[in-house]
Amino acid sequence: MKAHWQLSDLHWDAVAPATVGPELLQTIKTAALIEANSADYVAYLRNVFAGDDDFTQAAEQWGIEEAQHGRALGRWAELVDPGFDFAAALARFRAGYRVPIDVQQSVRGSRTGELVARCVVESGTCSFYSALRDAAPDPVLRDICHRIAQDEAQHFRLFKQHLERYQRREPLRRWTRARIALGRIFETSDDELSYAYYSANVPAHTAYDRVRHGTAYWRRAMSFYAERHLQGAAHMVTLAIGSARLSRHTRRLGRLLYLVTRWRLRRLEAAGAA
Ligand SMILES: [Fe+2]
Ligand SMILES: [Fe+2]
Repeated sequence: MKAHWQLSDLHWDAVAPATVGPELLQTIKTAALIEANSADYVAYLRNVFAGDDDFTQAAEQWGIEEAQHGRALGRWAELVDPGFDFAAALARFRAGYRVPIDVQQSVRGSRTGELVARCVVESGTCSFYSALRDAAPDPVLRDICHRIAQDEAQHFRLFKQHLERYQRREPLRRWTRARIALGRIFETSDDELSYAYYSANVPAHTAYDRVRHGTAYWRRAMSFYAERHLQGAAHMVTLAIGSARLSRHTRRLGRLLYLVTRWRLRRLEAAGAA
């Protein structure tokens, strides 16, 4: 199985390191590690969906594409910062953070719930890479983020299609789907992003501090969003929840996501400055 595009499709010699600010570079290094760690999520999904060959095959292909996102971002970061060793940073990340894969049931309580959460994650990554594409001054990074954002939108459609299948077999009430979706959106206390930021950007002799490194990551990541990116995410999230009543309020949800993001960014900046 292969991804839709290859690293050799990119014009690597057009990378323009001088245009790239440190905060964007730190964000991309962090994202590269998260994306490159997808094999563990494939193993997790294989366990949760054991016996559903349609889904587990799709999850294998999904994992190949996510891993390629990591390689593309990692290679770009190495070209911009020759001191960055992507393989070493990934090894450090994996030594200190592991996705709990040894499970038989979804951490969301059911397969249907797992698919709601997967849809939310893909709507988040799609809006994130769209935001990075629009903020990136470097043409190669813009190209990479555009390709990744398209893949993430396709991943959303893939998980949504399986969600509809499970919703017929093992239905969840609208309210439960909404609770899982909103819970996943605001699930930010996890170590994954903080530890990835730490592994990619902080010298190993500095002790890991979940709050400090998490704050540093989110301050950077949230600064790239414009409202339109979060309107896109709101549209996808309401589709995943599948409520006609809620979908009439998609624009308001997008506005709310944007306002919450700006509010959190101001708080993180204040915490960072303190
Ligand atoms: Fe990805
Ligand atoms: Fe994805």
